[in-house]
Amino acid sequence: MRMVDLIQKKKLGGELDQEEIDFIVQGYTREEIPDYQMSALLMAICFKGMTKEETANLTLSFVNSGDKADLSEIKGIKVDKHSTGGVGDKVSLVVIPLCASLGIPVAKMSGKGLGHTGGTIDKLESIEGFKTELSREKFISNVNTYKMAIVSQSANLTPADKKIYALRDVTATVDSIPLIASSIMSKKIASGADAIVLDVKAGSGAFMKTLEEARELAGTMVDIGNSLNRRTVAVITDMNQPLGHEIGNASEVREAIEVLQGKGPEDLTAVALTIASHMAVLGEAFKDYDTAFCELEKTIKSGKAIDKLKQLVEIQGGKPELIDYPERLPMAKNHIAVKSTESGYVTSIDTEMIGIGAMLTGAGRKQKGDPVDYSAGITVIKKTGDFVKEGETICMLHSNLDKLADAENRVRKAYAYSTSKPAKTRYVYEIIT
Ligand code: URA
Repeated sequence: MRMVDLIQKKKLGGELDQEEIDFIVQGYTREEIPDYQMSALLMAICFKGMTKEETANLTLSFVNSGDKADLSEIKGIKVDKHSTGGVGDKVSLVVIPLCASLGIPVAKMSGKGLGHTGGTIDKLESIEGFKTELSREKFISNVNTYKMAIVSQSANLTPADKKIYALRDVTATVDSIPLIASSIMSKKIASGADAIVLDVKAGSGAFMKTLEEARELAGTMVDIGNSLNRRTVAVITDMNQPLGHEIGNASEVREAIEVLQGKGPEDLTAVALTIASHMAVLGEAFKDYDTAFCELEKTIKSGKAIDKLKQLVEIQGGKPELIDYPERLPMAKNHIAVKSTESGYVTSIDTEMIGIGAMLTGAGRKQKGDPVDYSAGITVIKKTGDFVKEGETICMLHSNLDKLADAENRVRKAYAYSTSKPAKTRYVYEIIT
């Protein structure tokens, strides 16, 4: 087999078979295929796409390139969730204890944040002592005993995807639905879950800016999951404004605590309950979505859900009392009010811009390996549909840095206003099964 022939085949719109895909993925990972040939193929995929079968085969080839978690010692259906990435997205912090409190085993592997989107691992590490690296034995025994565990993704999970993703990043070939879908799904499948709920974000703060794009990505990922025998559901949710009010690390933990205590913001509560209900149904804890939703609401009201978060912190080495006293989680020194220069109803928020603003406070990382400041972030005070008077505070920046003019300007510019009140935003757009 020659790479040049496979590039030509894809350039003409042909379909690559499993053997050809394995040749490409293995050859590139072993550095037998050079970057220039892989780049040409990736660009051809961007223009010609991939069939469902090719996309599933590419996913499998990524999975087979590295470690595969064997969770067979965990009793019951292991359910995982994945978000395509958003701003203020602390849904995992809510759904892990929520599902576990109903006895649904959640064996979660998560990543660190990058760019304008945050990562669950950074948020949890803002809790003093919380360990996100557990031995395989401890991970499995925690899920069997407490129904929950979360760890940082193993360094050798889907190495082929890691290498190809880095090349896509510098060759303008990230935005291809089959490439994104196979990249995300390979990590979920290698993580060992039996069932997966995907939170596909749509809007200005998401990878997929429109509902149509999000729908296509969701459908492609659900097809991959189902063809590889993982029961998969995708929920398309809104990312045209930050989720909840807090963007950061410790501040997002504080907001997740509020949701689990039944006093969280409406949008975050709705999205978290929707995702958790689908996880509960896929995990066969309840036969239908409405019953699951109702039972999950009851676990919040009864205090079981917040107790479960405390337990999660305790079993992973953190200080559980921080959940009772969230004000003792890291807090930044400087607090700067971003004021509006206009009056009117907030009609839109450029959410990616707000996410970049949060990164500039120190809460996020520009590049892999950069440190994050757990105490930094943004509180979004005014959201879409709110009325704002000129000079009123729209956001608060929290930081230990002194120079925040860039963050402040970006946040101010992210807001658009009108004299008429916009229609209420939807939190959940569609469910793809
Ligand atoms: N996230 C991933 O893991 N892969 C992509 O290709 C895009 C987003």
